Amino acid sequence: MNNVKAIYPGSFDPVTYGHLDLIARSSKLFEHLVVAVLRNSSKNPLFNVEERVEMLTEGVAGFGNVSVCSFDGLLVDFARQQKAQAVLRGIRAISDYEYELQMAMMNRRLAPELETVFLMPDGKYSFLSSRLVKEVFELGGSVEGLVPQFVIDRLSQRVPKNGSR
Ligand code: PNS
Repeated sequence: MNNVKAIYPGSFDPVTYGHLDLIARSSKLFEHLVVAVLRNSSKNPLFNVEERVEMLTEGVAGFGNVSVCSFDGLLVDFARQQKAQAVLRGIRAISDYEYELQMAMMNRRLAPELETVFLMPDGKYSFLSSRLVKEVFELGGSVEGLVPQFVIDRLSQRVPKNGSR
């Protein structure tokens, strides 16, 4: 897949070591990877898009072929605009599969030329999600080893201290 450009779309609220693990794996497979933060999500994010892009940009600093941006509207339109041939998504467990399959099939219907590629993160991240990181942090638990220190720093600034941290 040496001359393939791929888009890795998501909410990334915030980026975790699971996302970064997937980025590291795919940066070896694709010529270029664009990590793309969705702008108009129905979810109520903790961090705004600019903050999420900043954290991701810090996270991917070591990869020469990975860039970060945000996008609006349909993913397939963004992929066409970027001249990307593939969409990257992570699958942690079988529970992710149904949602991912639905999205992949809908995207295929909208843009048959665009392939969705699934990768699995390291097993030690198979339980990890941005939602759980936020919940654990808000309730005073440690998220060390799950997100980079710069994310912990941002969480500390954003989330009211509630527990025994
Ligand atoms: O990290 P998430 O929240 O699971 O990512 C979901 C995302 C951003 C990949 C998905 O919601 C998306 O692609 N949204 C863009 C709008 C779109 O194209 N919708 C149809 C997808 S089938």
